[in-house]
Amino acid sequence: MKFLVTAGPTREFIDPVRFLSNPSTGRMGFAVARAARAAGHEVTLVAGPVALRTPHGVRRIDVVSAREMLTAVESENFDCLVATAAVADWRPARCASKKLKKNEMDGLLRLVRNPDILKTVALRLRRGHGRRPILVGFAAETGDPASEAVRKCREKRLDFVVANDVTSAGSGFGTDTNRVAFVFPDGRIERLPLMSKAAVARRIVRMASGLRNISE
Ligand code: PMT
Repeated sequence: MKFLVTAGPTREFIDPVRFLSNPSTGRMGFAVARAARAAGHEVTLVAGPVALRTPHGVRRIDVVSAREMLTAVESENFDCLVATAAVADWRPARCASKKLKKNEMDGLLRLVRNPDILKTVALRLRRGHGRRPILVGFAAETGDPASEAVRKCREKRLDFVVANDVTSAGSGFGTDTNRVAFVFPDGRIERLPLMSKAAVARRIVRMASGLRNISE
C-alpha cells in the first residue's frame, strides 16, 4: 500500500519573527511512517517544522503552514492517509512583511480559518472514481476523547479516528507514549492501554491494512 502520513505542527506567521503554533513534536506521525515502512509499505511523510530524522526508506516533504500541508497532501496519490498532524485551525488574516513593533501589535491580530485538510481530501475523494483510500484521523481532546471523536469521524467521513486525551499523563504532545482509542463511524470504540508511540503506530498500520483488505 501507499501510505501518506502528516506529522508535526503547522506555523502560521504573524510577521517574519512571530507565529501561532502548538506543541506537536511529530513523534506520533514519524512513528506511523516508520511502522508502515517496516511493514513493507511505500511511505511519504508530510512534516511540519519538527526536529526529527526522517525514518529510513521514507520519502519526506517539509511544509510550514496548514495551506502548504494541504497543497502537499493534494498533490500525492495514496491508498491510506494517516493524519497525525496538529494543524493550526486559524491563521492571522495577514502576515506583516516587516517585524511589527510592540505597540503596532495592540488589537491587530485578526484570525481567519485555515482549510480543514482531512475534510477537503475526503470531499474530493467522494467525488472521484475508483477505489476510495482509507482515511485515518486523529483527535486531540481534553477529557474523554471518544465522544468528540465519533462526531469527527462521521463529519469528516473517516474510516477510523485515533482519539487521544492530550491531558492524560504520558499521552499526547511530546511524549514517547500515548493512550488512545480507535473510534469507528458506527460508534464502536476500541480502547488501548498506555503504550509506546511505536506500538500505537503498529496497531494503526495493522488496522488500516486490514480495512483495505476487507474493501478489496
Ligand atoms: O507530535 P507529537 O508530539 O507526537 O503529538 C502527537 C499529537 C498529540 C499531535 C497527535 O497524537 C494528535 O492528536 N494529532 C491530532 C491533533 C489535532 O490537531 O487534532 P484535531 O482534533 O484538531 O484534528 C482532528 C483531525 O483533523 C486530525 O487528524 C488533524 O490532522 C486534522 N485536521 C485538523 C485541522 C485542520 N485544519 N485540518 C486537518 O486535517
